[in-house]
Amino acid sequence: MKAIVIRTYGGPEGLALVELPDPVPGAGQVLIGVEAVGVGGFDTLIRSGALAAYRATGTGHVPGSEVAGTVTAVGDGVEGAWLGRRVWGFTGIGGGCAEQAVVPVDELTLLPGDLSAADAVTVGGSGAVGHFGLAHARFAPGESVLVRGAGGGIGVMTVQLAARAGASAVAVTTSSPERGERLRELGATHVLDRSGTGDGPPDGYDVVVDIAAGDALPEFLDRLRPSGRMVVVGIMAGPPPVEFGARMLAAFERSLSFATFSMDSVPGADRRAVRAEQFAAASRGELRAVVQEVLPLQEAVSAHRKLAAGEVFGRLVLTP
Ligand SMILES: NC(=O)c1ccc[n+]([C@@H]2O[C@H](COP(=O)([O-])OP(=O)(O)OC[C@H]3O[C@@H](n4cnc5c(N)ncnc54)[C@H](OP(=O)(O)O)[C@@H]3O)[C@@H](O)[C@H]2O)c1
Repeated sequence: MKAIVIRTYGGPEGLALVELPDPVPGAGQVLIGVEAVGVGGFDTLIRSGALAAYRATGTGHVPGSEVAGTVTAVGDGVEGAWLGRRVWGFTGIGGGCAEQAVVPVDELTLLPGDLSAADAVTVGGSGAVGHFGLAHARFAPGESVLVRGAGGGIGVMTVQLAARAGASAVAVTTSSPERGERLRELGATHVLDRSGTGDGPPDGYDVVVDIAAGDALPEFLDRLRPSGRMVVVGIMAGPPPVEFGARMLAAFERSLSFATFSMDSVPGADRRAVRAEQFAAASRGELRAVVQEVLPLQEAVSAHRKLAAGEVFGRLVLTP
């Protein structure tokens, strides 16, 4: 089968299209004939080598973590009823950028018949991060939310989910006024630039969902209301500065909370239930899958260049 591999960690040019043996599903796994694979910030971090210290991925690693397609084979212990079903699947740290991908049966969600594979890989991973990120922040209807780094795959879903769940305000930081306008169409009420300049709600935020972290993170602590909660779900701008902890303690009297959030901490049954609900909402048109572009698999280098250049609003999708 054809697959994309990381030959050299670093820039997008380290990716290559190669021929690999067809994978075989092991016990508890299925094989999916891949129709679409989502490409986003997680893939670029892996390709750059930035996550090498945390996640062991060798040279020849196949990137891509979320796929949609049809189950073509099942491993030991998996019900044959899965064969021929259209599913969304999480492959784990990689293996998705290929014509066929192996996915644990616990990481499958059935797709509604009218949801395209491209829409599924746009909603599936990012929508769940948005949902559980807000839940981790103990977001409640009527509270105000800031989504930092809102123009990416996770951001566009989090904005929609916060608006749909009854936030009193959904502010965003984003890289251009044009993106701000598009985010308003998805439910944003206030648009700030990446530094946080712009008109936000005067009382600040109950919740910050942060996809960027980086040097600017402490500035956003100051915008939390008393008992406000900041949850970092991504590190697109790198780790926060060392003085972050001191800044947090300096705000002691405001009883702020800071947390990180990873989908790895969510039980599989909860992930599957939320994905099924979000796929149904997307097929009813209540959630928008923001697909910037669908490219053939062999254009993975171009896809990663677009992501690295900050040209992607929502999600990029590759189709084998
Ligand atoms: N917690 C989890 O379980 C989980 C799961 C999957 C992924 N992630 C992580 O979530 C992050 C984002 O993923 P994604 O798929 O949404 O990525 P993405 O589609 O590439 O979007 C990231 C967005 O972050 C913003 N951004 C990028 N660089 C920035 C910078 N230097 N400063 C401020 N904002 C910046 C941009 O938005 P604007 O143009 O609007 O500024 C960009 O569109 C990654 O770090 C990924 O590893 C976490």
